[in-house]
Amino acid sequence: MFQKIGRNDPCWCGSGKKYKTCHEAFDARIRKEQMAGHIVPRHDIIKTPAQIEKIKESCKINIAILDEIEKQIHEGMSTAEIDDIVMSMSEAAGAIPAPLNYEGYPYSVCTSVNDQVCHGFPSKDVILKSGDIVNVDCSTILNGYFSDSSRMFCIGEVSEEKQRLVQVTKEAVYAGLEAVKPWGYLGDMGQAVHDYCYERGYTVVREIGGHGVGLEFHEDPWVGYHSKAGTEMLLVPGMIFTIEPMVNMGKVEIYTDKENGWEVYTKDHQPSAQWEIMVLVTEDGHEVLCW
Ligand code: MF3
Ligand code: CO
Repeated sequence: MFQKIGRNDPCWCGSGKKYKTCHEAFDARIRKEQMAGHIVPRHDIIKTPAQIEKIKESCKINIAILDEIEKQIHEGMSTAEIDDIVMSMSEAAGAIPAPLNYEGYPYSVCTSVNDQVCHGFPSKDVILKSGDIVNVDCSTILNGYFSDSSRMFCIGEVSEEKQRLVQVTKEAVYAGLEAVKPWGYLGDMGQAVHDYCYERGYTVVREIGGHGVGLEFHEDPWVGYHSKAGTEMLLVPGMIFTIEPMVNMGKVEIYTDKENGWEVYTKDHQPSAQWEIMVLVTEDGHEVLCW
């Protein structure tokens, strides 16, 4: 799995230190986990301090864009206006919206309303109305570094049951976050999210998950929420991934619009909510980089 490095060679992490005084013990610990049958991260998804700094700069823009949308979003606004805000703020910051042209995706942001689970197309014909819940999923490329996060917004007077869905989904993300620690497993987080939602009567979408992020939009690992604690990829300091469960009020099944191949809906057309954060695994726990 790892390239053979001499003990006196420079470390793979780019610190300039000798391997034996840098990541040798770290790699030995990973190898031990691998021997015990665990999935382990490759070096190329473990970020160096310099990369983390660059990724944080990208996150700052992404957070600022969502903060601005939070200020401006209102009843009567079209979701195309949200797309315009993302495009113009990205441009002003010297950044690029990551969704634009990503695998053919035609807009700068995803805006998913009510029973739309994710990848909703912004449109001048989608006018936000009182009672809607909408997810705005924003992703930024700055100097080649990626950030990705999403928030829910409640428009006007939203029913208590929809407000609760939005709130519980956010709490589920933070329940998952609490389970993120170095030398733990991704499944610790997945099960925490799953249990939090199912204990409250909701279901969590199985087919679409989070992902590693930073040097690419979507990197390993794939991040699901139907996994068990103690399983899935070993978490080590320097890994960055998203926690972004899609939580359904009704049944778990979803479908994708056949005409555009992107927009995802709940099969029973009950509402769905999602919050997304970007998390760094640190030496002693975790740090939220983007929200
Ligand atoms: N932002 C989404 C995510 O959280 C990805 C959307 S893909 C796109 O991973 F092409 F629709 F942007
Ligand atoms: Co994401």
